[in-house]
Amino acid sequence: MIGVIGGSGLYRMDDIADARWENVTSPFGAPSDALLFGRLAGHDVVFLPRHGRGHRIPPTDINVRANIDVLKRAGCTQILSLTAVGSLREELPPGTLVVVDQFIDRTFARVKTFFGPGFTGHVSMAEPVCGRMGDVAAAAAKSQGIPVSRGGTYIVMEGPQFSTRAESELYRSWGCSVIGMTAMPEAKLAREAEMCFCTVAMVTDYDCWHTAHGAVTAHAVAEVMAGNVTHAQNLLRKVVPALAGVGTCDRGCHTALEGAVMTAPETY
Ligand code: ADE
Repeated sequence: MIGVIGGSGLYRMDDIADARWENVTSPFGAPSDALLFGRLAGHDVVFLPRHGRGHRIPPTDINVRANIDVLKRAGCTQILSLTAVGSLREELPPGTLVVVDQFIDRTFARVKTFFGPGFTGHVSMAEPVCGRMGDVAAAAAKSQGIPVSRGGTYIVMEGPQFSTRAESELYRSWGCSVIGMTAMPEAKLAREAEMCFCTVAMVTDYDCWHTAHGAVTAHAVAEVMAGNVTHAQNLLRKVVPALAGVGTCDRGCHTALEGAVMTAPETY
């Protein structure tokens, strides 16, 4: 089963068969919303609106542990995470999809692990994105004629305010490609849950470093997202069957906990 975390409008697709909203509960608290189960192009899929229907939950307050947990309980083995980002590169204009392969996590007010206290483990985040999913997502976007860049570093900021110009320039000097507020701790928790995870970042603006463009506003981001929802839906129509068809992951996503747990077995 493929889980899709995305914006509020993404799942409004007439071609989702047998669509039904179901509440799935988690010991980690309330997820962002109920899950929308259905079939897309003949394949099982489950959607979770990251900010809740109506975009109610700010990035810092998203209960990411519950979100990942309910997708795992729903039977998902892979998560496709669609998210709006600002561009830190001239060559990544609004409308581009970036299938990122790295993250820099600058968030500081979120719960980022399923471990502890009393149960300690450390998973590898060297390759935070499932490369198999990334290849499939990039190929699907290309086949739809959607401008796509394969690879790039997504810097995750706490928000909710956008960056200052000095911050934006700092992140550019670090070589980052795009900036957003949501990919972490999603990627970390998906890894701990031994699920394949891939972020497809949709560029909505040039952040504030680009002096030829005005400073980013939430309304501008929402407008570009709304304009790109058809792109995102077309991507899903291609990517869901492609992901369902490629079989099990050979990149270690499903064995991430092997060698990761530090706590002695007799104590848990
Ligand atoms: N989401 C969309 N655009 C963004 C930006 N410029 N900074 C942070 N998050 C964003």
